[in-house]
Amino acid sequence: MALWGGRFEGKSDPLFRQFNDSLRFDARLVEADIFGSKAWASALVRAGVLTAQERDRLHAALDALAKEAAGLGAAGIAASGEEDVHSWVESRLIASIGDLGKKLHTGRSRNDQVATDLRLWTAGTLEALRAAVRDVRGCLVELADREREVIVPGYTHLQRGQPVLLAHWALAYFQMLGRDDARFADALERTRVSPLGSGALAGTAFPIDREALAKDLGFSGPSGNSLDAVSDRDFVFETLAACSLCSLHLTRLAEDLILYCSAEFGFVTMDDAVTSGSSLMPQKKNPDAAELIRGKSGRILGAMVSLAMTIKGLPLAYNKDLQEDKEPLFDASDNLLMCLRMLPPVLNTLKVNQQACRKAALGDGSVLATDLADYLVDRGVPFRTAHEAAGRLVRVAMEAGVGLHELPLAKMQAVAPEIQADVAKALTLEASLARRNVLGGTAPAQVAQAIAKARKELQG
Ligand code: ARG
Repeated sequence: MALWGGRFEGKSDPLFRQFNDSLRFDARLVEADIFGSKAWASALVRAGVLTAQERDRLHAALDALAKEAAGLGAAGIAASGEEDVHSWVESRLIASIGDLGKKLHTGRSRNDQVATDLRLWTAGTLEALRAAVRDVRGCLVELADREREVIVPGYTHLQRGQPVLLAHWALAYFQMLGRDDARFADALERTRVSPLGSGALAGTAFPIDREALAKDLGFSGPSGNSLDAVSDRDFVFETLAACSLCSLHLTRLAEDLILYCSAEFGFVTMDDAVTSGSSLMPQKKNPDAAELIRGKSGRILGAMVSLAMTIKGLPLAYNKDLQEDKEPLFDASDNLLMCLRMLPPVLNTLKVNQQACRKAALGDGSVLATDLADYLVDRGVPFRTAHEAAGRLVRVAMEAGVGLHELPLAKMQAVAPEIQADVAKALTLEASLARRNVLGGTAPAQVAQAIAKARKELQG
């Protein structure tokens, strides 16, 4: 039964109902709607509208309804044919306790109600996202620690550049996800504001203590303007923006893993549990989990753009367009949560092929060309001249068909007489890493500190 029948003579067109009703997707707000309704009942007592006994009966009936809702699940609730989750809760309440149920909506509108429900739901989801991000960050630290010794090529332009520790690579993602976590926390701050008491648009006509109500909802305080409060979906947009960036970070991690597990790289092997086979090619082992993590970003970014288009040019205050906020939010956060939850099983079971990594890291030795230039700088050669000499030696080595680090000393001295026998010590992967002993660098000592710092951050 609709909540607004009085003014209407004619019946709704079934097609309009199908178009207009939101229960099929907003049923998942039921817990938030019941929680918010309980807080509203308490606020109505403080405003002198309800008695304490009436509130107690409403609370008991709403608690019973919460249990019923949990049993039914979102699909069961949706099957009821009500217009939306607010109608479902109210009509069930009236069916169970009669006239008292009809008092609950005093001074409240679905406009401030839905904004409240969605904020409650979003706050919970942001918490869940933060927990999931934290788990992934923990796995990255564990991977870094477990594979401390492993050296891989570091790339620019996807060309081998300089050697780095695999742990350093893992901690790069630890940093990215740390910024994502901070963005979720920041979105949470602005989500935890209570629009309840804003009524339809002008503010409720009953003397509601909005501060106390906000506190009951677990929010930091009430919103400052009723017109803004009922139509503000910034918190949804901010959540989707934070989800988008987090998802983009995951696509980069996924892409690295997809490359690294290919035969061309062979740095890692993914576990059978998170890969699939081919229906035609018997030898295949496909990194589907990582590919889907990469693929999901399209719909997550799409959700953010979709909401932006819903908000654009919307006149104050509430408009039904805003019903379009939910599906993108639900879809994006569900999918990002899945991506985040897929990563621990991928990362924890990752087999690292240390020898293949090392072989690629050294390659023909030309990844040590920067170290050769730096060696010359240490012997007083200006960097630009040293760069030129090291570049020429790369070519000499290539032409001789040997690695840069394998060039005979005489050949090196022919190009740069400053080079001495101790150059051999400089032209090793270990020496190259150790030299990057700067905060944020890949020297093992720095990485060990970074791991310790990361662990501390996760504990704090
Ligand atoms: N289902 C609606 C939504 O999601 C609830 C608010 C309806 N408000 C209204 N004035 N019809 O936005």
